[in-house]
Parts: sequence; structure tokens; C-alpha cells
Amino acid sequence: MKIAIDGPAGAGKSTVARRLANELNFTYVDTGAMYRALTLKALQQGIDLNDSNLLEQLAITTNMHFQTQFEGQLIFSDGQDVTSQIRSPQVSAAVSLVSAHSGVRKVMVKQQQALACSDSVVMDGRDIGEFVLPDADFKFYLTASLEARTRRRVREMQTRGYTADIDTVREEIVKRDQIDSQRPVGALRVLPDHIIVDTSDLSEDKVLAVILEKIRGA
Ligand code: DC
Repeated sequence: MKIAIDGPAGAGKSTVARRLANELNFTYVDTGAMYRALTLKALQQGIDLNDSNLLEQLAITTNMHFQTQFEGQLIFSDGQDVTSQIRSPQVSAAVSLVSAHSGVRKVMVKQQQALACSDSVVMDGRDIGEFVLPDADFKFYLTASLEARTRRRVREMQTRGYTADIDTVREEIVKRDQIDSQRPVGALRVLPDHIIVDTSDLSEDKVLAVILEKIRGA
């Protein structure tokens, strides 16, 4: 079974996707983490983030894999654990630029499809229902008000030990939404077969319950 979860930053996708995968005993694939890991490597190598050919080559030659642990999931890039580093403000600020290149997306979509081909998966991202798993058994679109998403991101950054100014985080989310939804390929958008869940006023437990009800009731 394939379950796609799309939606903007801060809608609560990754927490719910991870818990859903756990509940169903499926593999969880955080596609945002893959774009973040690629962005981290590009920043470390000082690559021009507008150079689509170089970034596509970088995507082809970077070896990424996930490792699921009791407390969560680790992501490795070329054998190195980059789980914490990919959440830095520098990566968050640059990732939309890197993920907007169609050549980069082509490579990533293929890798994500390969990860899903032999397992039951819950996969979250922006273009999962449309491009990565167009035949998914369920497609959810998680969304929330800008304020709720900003609050969540601030909390998440503070938990990770970063200082977070609420106005700066809000601005960054708005900018990222704009780039993510306006790029020519793989843009974030609601599809006719997406089940929309507004998580603004819902606890994580409640969001998970709503999604499980849809799946089990189908
Ligand atoms: O879910 P996230 O915030 O970790 O995602 C980081 C960025 O990666 C996001 O700004 C857009 C991009 N992304 C994408 O373009 N396509 C995906 N399937 C997942 C993420």
C-alpha cells in the first residue's frame, strides 16, 4: 500500500507521517529530508544554487539512505549522518531554491519511487500525490493557518536548540510557500483526489486519528 502526504511547511506532515507509518508498520520516507540533505551538500561544497546542471550532477552522485530507529529516523548522505544538520536555518533558507530545479527533481523523484517500489510506504512531501506516487492508495493534503504553522516551526527550531524569531520564521514560511507552489515542475498544489485535513486546531493525536479513520473506513 502507498500513502502520500503533501502540504506546506509546518502543516505537521512529518510527525503524522512518521506516526502513521509506525502504526501501520510501513516504511516512512521523508522526501523533504532528501532535498535538505542535497542542499546541505551543495552549501558545504560552495556550489552556486542557481547552477541547475551542477546540482543535478550532485543529486545523481549523492548516496542517501534512511535508518529507522525507535526515537525517529536518521538520514545519511554519502554514509554520514546529517539528520541534525539538515534542519539548520541555512539549509531551510536555501532548500526551496535547490528543489526548484527540474533536473534535481527528476533525479529525486526516481530515487523516491525506487524507495517505494518494494515496500508499503507513507511518503510525505510536496509532489508525492502528483508525481512520485500518482497511483497511491490514499493521498492526504495537510494544511494549517499561517499562524499555526509559524508557531509549530518556532517550537520545532527551539527544540533543536536554534533561536527563532517569530516574524522571521513567518516570513521564511511565506517565501518558501511561494517558491514551492509557483515552480514550473513539482509545485505544491491540491489535487482532486487529495483528502484535505486542516490541522490548525487539531492535536497530533487527532490528526493521526482522522487519517487512520479514513484509511480503515475505506
Ligand atoms: O518538508 P520540508 O520542509 O522538510 O521540505 C523542505 C523543502 O524541500 C521544501 O521547502 C520544499 C522541498 N520539497 C520538495 O520540493 N518536494 C518534496 N517532495 C519535499 C520537499
